[in-house]
Amino acid sequence: MNIRGSIKQALLEKNATLVAHYYVSADLQTLAEETGGIVSDSLEMARFGQNCDAETIVVAGVKFMGETAKILSPEKRVLVLDDQATCSLDLSCPIDDFSAFCDANPDHVVVVYANTSAEVKARADWVVTSGSALKIVKKLHQEGKKILWAPDKHLGHYVQTETGADMLLWDGACVVHEAFKAEGLERLMQHHPDAAVLVHPESPKEVIALADFVGSTTQLIEAAATRPEKTFIVATDNGIFHKMHEVAPGKKFIEAPTMGVGATCESCAHCGWMAMNSLEKCLSTLTTGKNEIRINDEVIEKAKHSIHRLLEFTQ
Ligand code: 13P
Ligand code: SF4
Repeated sequence: MNIRGSIKQALLEKNATLVAHYYVSADLQTLAEETGGIVSDSLEMARFGQNCDAETIVVAGVKFMGETAKILSPEKRVLVLDDQATCSLDLSCPIDDFSAFCDANPDHVVVVYANTSAEVKARADWVVTSGSALKIVKKLHQEGKKILWAPDKHLGHYVQTETGADMLLWDGACVVHEAFKAEGLERLMQHHPDAAVLVHPESPKEVIALADFVGSTTQLIEAAATRPEKTFIVATDNGIFHKMHEVAPGKKFIEAPTMGVGATCESCAHCGWMAMNSLEKCLSTLTTGKNEIRINDEVIEKAKHSIHRLLEFTQ
């Protein structure tokens, strides 16, 4: 039996479901769909894990996605394919420093991005994702609330500009999106004048300013499928191209540039932590039960509250 067959058999035997992010390899994405799991953005991964009947959730993505699944389904076993697969946003926001920031600003509502640790979520009033941040901050702003935002400064700046909310921003960034270059993008746009530019809001403001459409991974995929243009320049992790080609066959997708004058691109439009996921690791995680996510009960109880607000708001 080949490796895909072995994983399918192991998923059945362990009553497990595979939940994958759009940034992992195409072979993991197709396997998740073929076996009744899901490929989606971080918000829908969390919701699917909570609603499915499986005893074990196998997360092909990064650590914070596994932690969110565990917080929402503490009775289930949650496994990640590689326990070293993390996120620069999560790493930028250690709980002690973050708590001190919150303590110093007690009159602010604490809003954190899903790309954070369970402990940071437990300290927050709201968890948001890139697909929901604008609407949630807009509502809080309309209620007259001041907002403490962490950890992505680019997404925070975008939300602040769009909503006019009073926001204090943490100084974190995604290593993948931060590398996109506005200058190179402008040159590429001149070569492809008919292309639409799709940008994830973790990108720098100069890149967002050139976008025809800004949105979460799911929203970018929908835009690729529904917009009339035949060519797209895409500023997000290139793992997303697999789904874009599937939903918009015949259309052309071009990576937004990460190199340019003075560029020090290390990730070059692909997240090194997402790339740590593989079929081989999926099989070995399933057969050995290693890389199980464990979070203490108190943290789960507190973090659940802020994630439930997100799920209810986006229902
Ligand atoms: P989405 O919520 O748009 O999927 O983005 C999360 C992310 O950056 C995953 O790395
Ligand atoms: Fe984190 Fe960026 Fe990788 Fe997403 S792509 S997991 S935000 S480092």
